Amino acid sequence: MKILIASFNLSITEILIIALLVFVVVLLFVTIVLFNAFKITLKAQNNPQPYHKYDAPLPLAYEDWLKQKKSKPNIWTKLLSLKPIEKEEELIIPHAYDGIHELNNPVPTWFNVLFYGSIIFGLGYFYYYHVGEYGPKQDQEYENEMVQAATDKKIFLAKSGEKYDESSVKLDQNLIVSGKQVFNTNCVACHGEKGQGTVGPNLTDEFWLHGGSIASIFKTIKYGVPAKGMVSWEKNLSAKNIAELSNYILSLNGTKPANAKAPQGDVYKEESAVDTIGNGNTTKQ
Ligand code: HEC
Repeated sequence: MKILIASFNLSITEILIIALLVFVVVLLFVTIVLFNAFKITLKAQNNPQPYHKYDAPLPLAYEDWLKQKKSKPNIWTKLLSLKPIEKEEELIIPHAYDGIHELNNPVPTWFNVLFYGSIIFGLGYFYYYHVGEYGPKQDQEYENEMVQAATDKKIFLAKSGEKYDESSVKLDQNLIVSGKQVFNTNCVACHGEKGQGTVGPNLTDEFWLHGGSIASIFKTIKYGVPAKGMVSWEKNLSAKNIAELSNYILSLNGTKPANAKAPQGDVYKEESAVDTIGNGNTTKQ
């Protein structure tokens, strides 16, 4: 129901107004029916009619029935150009195969309409595209679509440039707060509440196993180090979430929480982005 309403984009007030209108229409209908019933009851009360036995009309003779039927050919018969049964005799083709006769039924109207219609359409089409050359032909249309696709692609790429990936992720103070939330739900189990490290390494010191640039951290989170127990989060978190996490983790640097895990890896220096994740996508911060 929610989805249905959402797809029509109606506000609560609009929905209430529509419900009210429906209610009014139903009410009107009920009133009319009740009023008519009341009228009939009143009439019957004022002028009571004794009960009459129902006399069924006599059945028609076959000829009369046929005449009645003949008088009104319906739309279906007209469309199929069917002849009434009494006239079929006129349609018999004068030869017989093993005593079987064929009827020379007329071509149905719907067929003729389609047939002549397509000829007229074809003439128009030929004139429009091949004589007057008013519209683009197939190959021209194909080229137009390719041009359109190229512009669409450009727009799409320009847009997706705004999305986050390891080559475009940047330090951004605004992402830290939401990064903390994502961290608390997903990462605390292995990296500790303050990032001090439990199963996973300490994330608050300057020692990094896989590089301490924002791009390296983004990559570690995105692709994980499955062999060492760090999952790839690419499928479970959005790229934005990963960017938020990377910023949050970097904001932890130097916080020196209690019970911090012993340093692992090398001290990260700005210039040395080591590609230990091994997808050859090293990016320098
Ligand atoms: C199942 C436990 C586990 C979970 C959950 C986990 N990690 Fe890890 N993480 C690890 C382990 C183990 C390593 C060390 C991998 C190695 O030895 O190469 C690691 C390494 C890392 C590193 C690299 C540290 C370095 O020194 O280079 C980062 C960054 C990281 N994790 C971030 C996260 C984030 C962010 C989350 C939450 C989305 C997360 N981890 C969730 C276990 C986990």
